[in-house]
Amino acid sequence: MPLVTTDILLTQKHLEAGKPLAIPTETVYGLAALINNESAIRQVFALKNRPLDHPLIVHVARDTDLSPYVHSIPEYAKTLMNHFWPGPLTLVLPANTENINPLITAGQSTVAIRCPKHPLTEKLLANLKTPLVAPSANPFGKISPTTVSHVQSAFHEATLMILDGGRCNVGIESTIIDATQPESYQILRQGLISEAALAECIPTAYQTSENTIKVPGKLASHYQPNKVLYYFDDQEALEQFCKKNPQKVYVLAKKIPENANKALYYSLPESPEETAFELYYQLRIADWSAAECIALLLPPASKAWFGIRERILKAGRPAK
Ligand code: TXA
Ligand code: MG
Repeated sequence: MPLVTTDILLTQKHLEAGKPLAIPTETVYGLAALINNESAIRQVFALKNRPLDHPLIVHVARDTDLSPYVHSIPEYAKTLMNHFWPGPLTLVLPANTENINPLITAGQSTVAIRCPKHPLTEKLLANLKTPLVAPSANPFGKISPTTVSHVQSAFHEATLMILDGGRCNVGIESTIIDATQPESYQILRQGLISEAALAECIPTAYQTSENTIKVPGKLASHYQPNKVLYYFDDQEALEQFCKKNPQKVYVLAKKIPENANKALYYSLPESPEETAFELYYQLRIADWSAAECIALLLPPASKAWFGIRERILKAGRPAK
């Protein structure tokens, strides 16, 4: 079983000995390895059962000099970093490929960088003086973990250690933007930092053309619970579904359907922030329940909700 600790020095030694460490971030837990330790990075891919063509995000401490890792940073990207870091925004930048192991970039000429906001992980990164790669600490394709017990339920290996930072307070993965172009950017993965929040910070035109760089969103399914998840656009369709399947459905909605079982119901919060915080956490409760499937009411198709909708659309399927 992985050792769970809050001892930063111990976790630092573990990483420096070339072993993977689960780290808390404000978004979800990550499975970390030092960027200069190829064997540890390979262990991370192996533990997750992640294909090698999926690049990893490099996590840096506050005020890290990025020049060893990237060869240019557009002005708007600097503005975004100043505004949102530390925080749930990842920037894909032109990589200094001679300094970065191609395992991290999947052999591409770009590298994704983020500065996480969590007191323990920030302290650890500051002590290490070397960045960490950290994909979400879940088996490939499954729901990301937002607590230590989620990480423990997926990984039993003694080589793994877990830094216990409590429950992640954002709850879904970071927003990723392609910042490789000098004049425009593009969202590659939606998150809690929405297109509107980015546009408020920088005047740079938002580019909508199809992007050619590899993104997680290109996979048809992702973030999946073990039970089948059906999503619904409106309460009426959800009510009909529950009428046909009494007792067997775990419902996440704003209002409990007439025929739903109260013990198998979660009342969805009002705001995107609260919903992001609860989404994966509640989906796991639904997954561990006695229900046979999960039914979820989609939030509105407005910008502030895109990150949450994207997760649900990839995790589930429309009901027949
Ligand atoms: O919030 C997060 O970003 C979490 C926490 C742990 O930091 N990490 C995370 O990592 O979600 P991961 O590996 O599960 O998802 C990151 C995605 C990858 O699926 C990959 O496709 C994309 O980031 N990515 C990484 N490097 C990239 C690159 N150079 N170009 C385009 N996409 C990249
Ligand atoms: Mg992931």
